Order: sequence, then C-alpha cells, then structure tokens
Amino acid sequence: MSMKNVFVLIVTLTMFVACKRDTILLDTDKYLNFALEQVSKTLVSNTDPWQSPRQIKPGHVTWSTVNLNDWTSGFWPGILWYMYEYSNDPYFREQANKWTMPMEGAKDRERPNHDLGFMVFNSFGNGYRLVKEPDYLPIILETADSLAAWFNPNVGTILSWPWAREKYGWVHNTIIDNMMNLELLFWASKNGGDESYYDIAVTHALTTMRNHVRDDYSTYHVVVYDSLSGDVVKKVKYQGYADDSMWSRGQAWAIYGFTMCYRETGIVDFLETAKGLARTFINHLPDDYVPYWDFDAPNAPDEYKDASAAAIAASGIIELSGLIDNEDESGWFHNNAIHILHSLAGNYLSDGSNHAVLWHSSGHVPANSEVDVPIIYADYYFIEALLRERNLQNSNR
Ligand code: GLY
Repeated sequence: MSMKNVFVLIVTLTMFVACKRDTILLDTDKYLNFALEQVSKTLVSNTDPWQSPRQIKPGHVTWSTVNLNDWTSGFWPGILWYMYEYSNDPYFREQANKWTMPMEGAKDRERPNHDLGFMVFNSFGNGYRLVKEPDYLPIILETADSLAAWFNPNVGTILSWPWAREKYGWVHNTIIDNMMNLELLFWASKNGGDESYYDIAVTHALTTMRNHVRDDYSTYHVVVYDSLSGDVVKKVKYQGYADDSMWSRGQAWAIYGFTMCYRETGIVDFLETAKGLARTFINHLPDDYVPYWDFDAPNAPDEYKDASAAAIAASGIIELSGLIDNEDESGWFHNNAIHILHSLAGNYLSDGSNHAVLWHSSGHVPANSEVDVPIIYADYYFIEALLRERNLQNSNR
C-alpha cells in the first residue's frame, strides 16, 4: 500500500468519529442580495469596461482597476453574469455583456499564459452558459486554442508562466493554479473545439496529480520540468511561505480543479485526489474556518488570513460533496463548506463602507502585494459558492 493510500485509510477511519460537524443552514439569499447591492454600487462608480476591478486598497471605498491584460480581468464580468443568473434582471445582463465584450482581446493577449482560462471562461464562458450569445462561442474556442498551444507533450503539462523562463530559468514550469484553466479545454473539446483538448486536459491533470500533490495531500505551488526529458527539476514556492509549505490558495485551486476534472471525466483518481486535498485543507483550518495565507506560516495566529482561499475551497467542496455517493462522507464535506461560508458571511463580510463583498484576502504576502484587502476573485468564488449552495437547497425542496 502506498503512503498516500495509508494516509487516506487513517483519515477516513477517524474522520466520521472525530471530526463530524453538525448540519447548519445558510441563508444564501441574504448574502446574494447583499452582493447585488455592493455590485450595483460599483456599476455606478466604475463605468469604463476596459478597466477591471481588482482590489480595494486600505482606506479606499472603490475598486482599483487593472487593464484587460491582467489575469484577474475576467472575474468582474463573471460576477456580473452571476448577478444576472441570480436576479434575472436584464440590467445585469446588459452590464455583463458590456464588461465581457472588451475581454475579446484576451485571446491575443500581449503576454499570454495559462490565465486565459480565468479571463475568458469566467467572462464569455459564463455568458455563453446563460444566454447562448452566438458571438461568444468563437472567442471561447479561439482562446482554448491559445491555451492548448502551451502544452508540452514531453512533460505532459501546460507551461503556466512563459515569463518565468527568463526571469527564474524555470524552463518549463507548471503551477497548481493551472488546474483551474483546464475547464476551458474540457468545455471546448465538447463544444466544437479540437477534441484532443480533452486529452491535453486529462494528461495535464494526471501529471499534476503525480508531481504537485504530496503524500499528505498538501500541494506544491510550482513544479519546474526539463522541457525535453519531462523530468522534474525542482519543486518550489512562489506565493507561499516555503518550498515545502501549503500555500492556502494553491490548495484551494487544487481542490476545485481536481473536483472539476472528476466531474468532466469520471476518472476516480481525480475524485480521490480532490477528497484528499479537501480533507487536508479542512483538517488544518483554524477555529474560524478561514485559513491564514499559508497553512505553515510560522507566526500564526499573527498572520494574515486569505478569505479568497476559503471562498474558492468552499465552492469546490460544495461541488465535491455533490459528486460523492456515500451520504455520510458527502455530508461531512458539505457541512464543512457551509461552516466556511458561514464564517466568511459572519466575520469577513464588508460592512458596506466600501464596495467589496468580502474583506481580508491576501494576494502575494512574500511580495507584500495585496495583503489583507478585498480582492475581486474572493467575491467571485464566494458568490459562486452561494449560488451552488442555493441550487442544492432548491433541488432538495
Ligand atoms: N493565480 C494567481 C493567484 O492565485 O494568485
């Protein structure tokens, strides 16, 4: 039996006895309505669709923006689509379209990288899912072509950061975040794009499962490969505390990404990996269910929290719970996701004095960048998680 399997066995045996938490209910409408209010304020203060909201600086009320080359530029249009999905109000559809259309240039982005998925699938992808606007389809498919072009068959992964080849000598690097962007490839392969993108996505996920996921189901942030032999050269940190630490948002990307890969493929190893990653995340959470920016940050509790990691993980774990047949096990994951969302809603929600939904995210602590501030992707995944939970509640009625 491998170390990983022994770990799974021990955790599974103890999980239901020691860690079961009570079922709690979440008033999703209350927080989605609050999101509608906050988003509406931004639609008044920020009107230029070429400048996408990214963070709210300390002491500021409105979002600071970035141009559409930025990796986060798809989250705001994505939020607007979610607001349309929730409210069915044509105003949000119109605004979502207004902020989505300028994203078209992402497919020919100046410094393209794996983030094309975040940028185009959250904007055009959500839009196409909801309104089937025919003009969106070729843009999504062309973006999938651009993303797939970074796949290196010698390694079996997509090159995540072309810019880091020169800067750090990371000739072929793959980051755990890249798991998120496989969804664009799966989708394209089924919706008129190149069918081989399915195989690229599966191969990337299998290689990542082998090399990024540790025996205890924590994750490395960056794996550097030899681009010809495909051998692993090294495993290192970028936004995390140390090479061998568990960077919280990376762990959340991994939970969400492997869950999505299981949904798309039915490959059981992806499900087991997602469960292992989620258990490790949950079992290391502090009492308020929102992680510090790195689970191994040395000065906890005097470390910054990352609400974005909590929101991403909660959204992924809600989906994961719906893919697990065993009722007790599914319930355990679901309850923990709800505890995370409750804590975000209770302790991390904006008081309305600025335009964010959530406070206290941390983008890149070692670089002292976007530390303990509202960040747009925290709001995106919090809203997504609320919608997922709302759908579950409605389907159980
Ligand atoms: N994908 C970049 C980040 O999570 O900060």
